[in-house]
Amino acid sequence: MVIEGAGVKLRRSFGPTRSNPLDPFLLFDNFAFNNPQEGPIAGFPTHPHRGIETVTYMLEGSVRHRDSLGNVGLIGAGDVQWMTAGRGIMHEEMPRRGPSGLIKGFQLWVNLPAAQKMSPPRYQEVKENEISVVKKDGATVRVVAGEFAGVRGPVTDIAAQPLYMDVTLDAGATFSLPTPRGHTVVAYVFEGAGLFGKDATNTEAVKMLVFGDGDSFTAQASPSQPVRYMLMAGAPFKEAIVPYGPFVMNTEAEIYQAFEDLRTGNFVK
Ligand code: CO
Repeated sequence: MVIEGAGVKLRRSFGPTRSNPLDPFLLFDNFAFNNPQEGPIAGFPTHPHRGIETVTYMLEGSVRHRDSLGNVGLIGAGDVQWMTAGRGIMHEEMPRRGPSGLIKGFQLWVNLPAAQKMSPPRYQEVKENEISVVKKDGATVRVVAGEFAGVRGPVTDIAAQPLYMDVTLDAGATFSLPTPRGHTVVAYVFEGAGLFGKDATNTEAVKMLVFGDGDSFTAQASPSQPVRYMLMAGAPFKEAIVPYGPFVMNTEAEIYQAFEDLRTGNFVK
């Protein structure tokens, strides 16, 4: 468990490191407030990002978002916000409980290639009803990015060529998807149990699975219960990275520059 922001409880599966083993993915957090008795949620007060994309996907509750460019919005249950920070934004992210008193969601950080780290910020905000749900052979797939059964997700034109899907398999159902050779493939299993990958590894929630290189991803729900997971895949950039807090750049000099830009008021343009 990691305490981030102002007292937000997170289950962090991985975070940015120089060795960058899951290139192009830098971080995956599962933020969950399962106990309404936990009291008020402070959230993530104003903070900067540079050189990355942050992807917020909500299951329950919502996150109120406000940034230095004047964007304000509510990321509700089933919504996704794919934010390309590029050269820089300052924003706050304040979680709110849903009707049940719960907050559940994920934040994924995706790297940007050196050539795009200083690009203008960009948002792709997709509402719950704009995300296609594909039902096929016992699989229910919400396609955020990438393609499943001929259906393309609404998030496009991302450097890492990502695939990002919320997959639920009925008990016993199977799922298979071609993945480009050389891409990083990761699944975050957060409900139920099933068999994953070529060796049919028996996996119970909650667990992050990293797959070896291949041409496809496969999963099968347990015969007695469904399984639900976030599936992500992307093309590694194979560039050196220097992460520092909310910045991920390619050199230490670029990290110093980010602090210098903050100090001199040149961070957000
Ligand atoms: Co942030």
